[in-house]
Amino acid sequence: MSHDTLLLGQTLSFDGSPFDSGPAAATHRTHGGILIRDGRIVDTGDGATLRARNPQARIDDQGAALLCAGFIDAHAHYPQTAMIASWGKRLIDWLNTYTFPEEMRFEDPDYAAEIAARYLDLTASNGTTTICSYCTIHPTSVDALMGAAQARGQRLLAGKTCMDRNAPEGLRDTAQSAYDDSKSLIARWHGKDRLSYVITPRFSPTSTPGQLAALGTLWAEHPDLLMQTHLSEQTDEIAWVKALYPTARDYLDTYEMHGLLGAGGLYGHAIHLEPREKDRLAEVGAALVHCPTSNTFIGSGLFDMAGLVARGLRVGLATDTGGGSSFSMLRTMAAAYEIAQLRGTALHPSQLIWLATAGSAQALGIDRHVGTLAPGKEADIIALDLASTPAIAQRAARAEDLWEALFPTIMMGDDRAIKAVWIAGQAMPRS
Ligand code: GUN
Ligand code: ZN
Repeated sequence: MSHDTLLLGQTLSFDGSPFDSGPAAATHRTHGGILIRDGRIVDTGDGATLRARNPQARIDDQGAALLCAGFIDAHAHYPQTAMIASWGKRLIDWLNTYTFPEEMRFEDPDYAAEIAARYLDLTASNGTTTICSYCTIHPTSVDALMGAAQARGQRLLAGKTCMDRNAPEGLRDTAQSAYDDSKSLIARWHGKDRLSYVITPRFSPTSTPGQLAALGTLWAEHPDLLMQTHLSEQTDEIAWVKALYPTARDYLDTYEMHGLLGAGGLYGHAIHLEPREKDRLAEVGAALVHCPTSNTFIGSGLFDMAGLVARGLRVGLATDTGGGSSFSMLRTMAAAYEIAQLRGTALHPSQLIWLATAGSAQALGIDRHVGTLAPGKEADIIALDLASTPAIAQRAARAEDLWEALFPTIMMGDDRAIKAVWIAGQAMPRS
């Protein structure tokens, strides 16, 4: 009995970065095919040729839909699912008013499991197949999301958010318990199936220097792990960090002083960077994560995509749910386009879709597993309907090439554009 599946449709994949070589980094086939065996991509090419060569394969014909790698959301807070789109605040007020009270609820494992399942359903229906998420301070919030992703066979990166000050009673750990709990969660989850544990200090204002140092020690003991945190999102936040850490040279230094700067570091937002911070981040090979819908929604500022990529920094793309205002990576690409326009750069559709797939994979250090359709990669694939609404269809009908056909879906598309999703080669049920 054969386990092979041959997906047919238009196909789009990348051999390199369109930030280096422009749209030529992409390979597009109007009648392409992707052969899947045991959860992996084993061959790609012309659809008819693959079909003739693999008569045993089960055919799944997606017609004119565009098959590409599943979206990778490089920074999200799954516990903020139920309070997304909360009105009227900026970062610190928003955290205190909406975020912390909601995160408090994750002490209850049943609530954590309910939101974890809801979150993975919502993201999958938006074409997102891999997420790097913050949890809450509660180890059970990590168990809930890891367990739910494992049951779905999904690749996931996540960690217990650590905070031991400037957070309400009930939402604070200590330096020691953050170290101990993170350590036992690493043993429980890291490297199991497709799961990775990420060391997660929320940001410098909610950790004492002692807690940052404890997590720096933990990272030194587990140097293969990623470490995620927030950096220079809003100007008020930066002033607060400077007051809390008077001996630090800048915001980044509050992490560096405590062993929390390195190539496996993921620094979310990174909008208002000083020259030394940019130099240091580039020198150590750190990754930045751009969260454009969040940056406009909370009023944070305009990320310098062109300037930071030109320095050789890896940049991932992310929703930052629920500071971000959408679960959709299409909507996120649209916001990245708009922010770049406000900074005088027009990101090409090839750059936008690359950021949401291969670029995020590189930022997360998982590009050997996912992010393109290259043979050997795990078969996390989506089918995009490039005519999912009348408004999009009438514009796409005028398109003269793939990029013109795809751009209306990037700018105006939502979950209706996600025709099908495969995780490790398994078609996800439509909700
Ligand atoms: N900085 C610290 N915590 C958060 C958070 O939950 N969301 C955003 N957008 N910024 C943060
Ligand atoms: Zn965040």
